[in-house]
Amino acid sequence: MTVRLSRRVRRVSLSANAAAKSRVTELRDAGRDILDLTTGEPDFDTPEFIKQAAYAAIAGGATKYTPTPGVKALRVAVQRKLAEENHLDYPLASIVIANGAKQIIFNAFAATLDDDDEVLVPTPYWPSFPDSVRFNGGEPVFIECGLAQGCKLLPAQLEQHITARTRWLILNSPGNPSGAVYSAAELSALAEVLRRHPQVLVLLDELYEYIRFDGRPAQSLLNVAPDLQDRCLLVGGVSKTYAMTGWRIGFGAGPKILADAIAVVQSQSTSGASSVGQAAALAAYTGGLDFLAEHVAAYQLRRDILVEALRHVEGLEVLVPQGGFFVFVRCAGLLGRVRPDGQRIDNDGDVVAWLLEEGVAGVAGSAYGLSPWLRLSIATATDSVAEAGRRIATACGKLQ
Ligand SMILES: Cc1ncc(COP(=O)(O)O)c(C=O)c1O
Repeated sequence: MTVRLSRRVRRVSLSANAAAKSRVTELRDAGRDILDLTTGEPDFDTPEFIKQAAYAAIAGGATKYTPTPGVKALRVAVQRKLAEENHLDYPLASIVIANGAKQIIFNAFAATLDDDDEVLVPTPYWPSFPDSVRFNGGEPVFIECGLAQGCKLLPAQLEQHITARTRWLILNSPGNPSGAVYSAAELSALAEVLRRHPQVLVLLDELYEYIRFDGRPAQSLLNVAPDLQDRCLLVGGVSKTYAMTGWRIGFGAGPKILADAIAVVQSQSTSGASSVGQAAALAAYTGGLDFLAEHVAAYQLRRDILVEALRHVEGLEVLVPQGGFFVFVRCAGLLGRVRPDGQRIDNDGDVVAWLLEEGVAGVAGSAYGLSPWLRLSIATATDSVAEAGRRIATACGKLQ
């Protein structure tokens, strides 16, 4: 018997990242020496004080169902973090906890999109943005943001793409995969456009908010345009900052009607997030960020090493990331060249395949809606990043 899959599930696919990662595993199992620059998760371990809180929670009996919108103490901690660190005030009823930032985003679209509603997605994008929109019946509308504009959305582009059907704009800063961070002036200019279109909601994905380089200040659209707070959904979580990707805890802060609807969707899918994960996240949000400077310094060092290794390679143009876990590199200059085995490089997928032959795994820009580019992770050991930079330079040099 063949199982007929729904139209809905046929509109989305498994992430390119997962596919790239399983190829790395395959090659490694076959004995190949591959440096894996595909992953978007910290190579650091979860800080010990957070793990201890989780053990204590289990021992103390925090092993039962949790309230759907999240454990109250954690929601209060998020509320306090937003007030003290982000200078944003939210009533408790506006804050909802889920199984990762990803679930908040998914639930927000499930709660607000009707068929054919449009969501503006600046490219390059994190692939779950458009797939989450598609799964929930909406239409992603892509806005290309190339190298010349630092992979950031310009106000004129925003104005041009808004229609009567536009429900959301997605803004992700620091960005995955670009590493772009919007300045206060850039955000103010976007806010000007948004004020002219009050029907448009804004999804602010600030999951990488603490992973910023060169002392860049944290900056949210909401800090420069507090009048937009009642139509923004701020999305954050512990995955990247606290090296807690596997604990699956994220939060959303937005209008109460939206927070409630997100919780309704969650109540019919996963119910409240894990009790142990929430206890760990509570420790994270109340335990201070002392460990973070060391992590960010390591990411910045790796960024510097990789950028330096690639910036003089003929055929590559590096967008120097200002935050996040990735170096995003334009590789248009390699197209049309020929590998030593005679194969021609026609697109960024071919570049990725060639680099894999030469021992480095990255992900093609096509997975993020912008080609021909490459995404290389700096959330991996410094030595590996340095060696990957050397291998990429050598591999590019072998192309005729
Ligand atoms: C931009 C962006 N948003 C959201 C997520 C999902 O984060 P979480 O682990 O909290 O679900 C990721 C993870 O890679 C991401 O890169």
